[in-house]
This record gives sequence, structure tokens and C-alpha cells, in this order.
Amino acid sequence: MSDQLGTIEELPQDYRAAMTEAGVAPLWPMMRNVLPHDAPNPVTRSGHWSFQAVRPLLMRAGELTPVEKAERRVLVLSDPGRGTGAMQATSSIYLGLQLLLPGESAPAHKHTPSAARIIVEGTGGYTVVDGEKLPMQDGDLVLTPGGDWHDHGHDGDTPVIWLDALDLPLFVYLEGSYAIEGELQAQRNRPDASEVEYRAAGLAPSRKLTSQVRRYPMMRYPWTQTEAALRQMAKYGEGEVAELDYINPETGQDVLPTMGFTAMMLAAGQSEAPPLRSASAAFHVVKGRGTSLVNGQEIAWAPKDTFTAPVFADITHRAEEESFLVRIHDRPLQDKLGYYEERAK
Ligand SMILES: [Fe+2]
Repeated sequence: MSDQLGTIEELPQDYRAAMTEAGVAPLWPMMRNVLPHDAPNPVTRSGHWSFQAVRPLLMRAGELTPVEKAERRVLVLSDPGRGTGAMQATSSIYLGLQLLLPGESAPAHKHTPSAARIIVEGTGGYTVVDGEKLPMQDGDLVLTPGGDWHDHGHDGDTPVIWLDALDLPLFVYLEGSYAIEGELQAQRNRPDASEVEYRAAGLAPSRKLTSQVRRYPMMRYPWTQTEAALRQMAKYGEGEVAELDYINPETGQDVLPTMGFTAMMLAAGQSEAPPLRSASAAFHVVKGRGTSLVNGQEIAWAPKDTFTAPVFADITHRAEEESFLVRIHDRPLQDKLGYYEERAK
């Protein structure tokens, strides 16, 4: 194994010109870029978006751009490693903060990428997915799986803001990203499945031989339930950090094909130093305050902030006050590709 492979400059100019003319290039000068030794060399850099800083810009967008002109009134959280305007926060995860004002609606569409939202502020907002009306309350996780019709509405009287997470970068990379527009959906007049079929953990509708289970049976995960479960985990966790994965209640698998969601509670003064994970991640602060070190970069986070970590990041969280974070990650994708890995620090 050679430490230093040949460079393009070592090759004669006429040979380089002939290769360009023929539409070919030598692999060896570029090989270490795409196959570095031992670990990937991510382009992604850790980012931190203070809600306090972004909120006024989002509200100004509400004044400047009517929702009809935006369809989705979103400020995109761009990976610092790729620069402002990059339609991704990590290699595979897109993040955006979306504003819906009272009385507004965002038209129905469906698209190949999957999305999930974490509600950041406001009450009265809702998403309709395949006719199911999903109320949006602080901290709720609401899914809009790829291929499912969805539109957003607002019956309340204060602005509603949520964080969108999509596997959009992956679909753009695959040249598989597109949307189809439609009419606002008729809403079924019933509560969402988290309040009916999947009201209690460990219980699902009784199966009959002819039962057709929906691929995404539950599309809203109410924060009140998540927080109560985390508190109970923490109470009996003997000092272990309480963490819960969001799962499909019928299969026990991740809620979406490529993105996973994990809720975490840190008590005041508690630290957490996870192993180096091959997955990239975004952390959304539902409540609380603290500091995280991500590859040596100190991020002081406050309620409703969002920050990111590239693959194999060295992360240590420390909560100043009782804190709840949701980690959005691409482990499900890496599991499917067969290479998810954790390394001890
Ligand atoms: Fe959408």
C-alpha cells in the first residue's frame, strides 16, 4: 500500500490532453478522495442554528412573501461545509424551518422524499396526510412518508413554526426527487391514530387473516407521551441517559425508510458522550439549555435550537438544565446499506 499515489501533474501534458479529448481520467490521483483510509472524510461541518436568531427572519418572510408565492415558507438550514444555500444540513438530511400564519394553508402535494416535522412553536396548526388530520403541538413528531399526499393548515391565531427534516439530498443525488401537486384533501372526521389504534404502547389493533396494515400506521407521535416516557426511563435509569427511538408500532422498525428519530432526556448537570457513530445527525432542542462539543467545536444551545454533527463526529453533550433533545439521523439508511457502525471513543 502506497502512502502517496501518483498525481496528475506527473503525467505528460500531451497525455493529459489526449485523455480529456477521449473523456477519460486516471483514477489514481483521485482515488484517496473517494476511498480514504480507515474512515470517511466528510464535507459536512457541524452547524448551529439559534432559534432566537432565525425566528425574526422567518417572521419577516411571513410579511414579505405570501404563502401562495412560497407554497412552503421555509428557511433552509444549510450545512456550513457546503455553504449558505446548500439544500442539505448533512450528507443525507435536509432541514428547514417552516412558518404558517393563522388562516393560511399550504397546498397538497406528494413527493418521492420522505419528511418528518418537529413542532417548534404555536398551536392550531395541522398536517393532513392521506386524509388523516394530524394536530401539531410543541415537540410532536409528524411524518409525511414519501408518496403520501400532505397539506398543512392552521386554525389557530398565532404563528406556527416547525422544523422539517427530509431525506431530500439522497433523492436529489439519485435524480429521483420530484413532486406532484393536488387539491386540498378531504379530512376524515376522527382523531389521528396515536389517539385511537395506537393509543398505548404495546397495543395494536387485533389482526385478522385479511387485515391490511398501513405501511405507516401512525404518523403523529405526541410529545406529551414521549416526554412522560423519557421521564419514567430517567427515573429508573440509574444515571443512564434516557433515550427512546421512535418506531412503527406495527413492525417495531424505524418510522421512515432512511431517517431515524431518537428522543433523549438529560437531567441538569448530566453529560452524555456517545460512541463515534457512522450516521450523521441533527439535534433539535425541544426544551432545555446546555453545551455540546462536536469535533472540538463548542455549541451552546438554547430551547428550540438545532445543531448538526457529521458522520463519525466526536460528540459530548452537557445539560445545564433539564433538557430534551430529538436526534434526527440516517442510521436506518446505513442499516439498509449494511454499514452502520459505532466506534468507541
Ligand atoms: Fe412536502
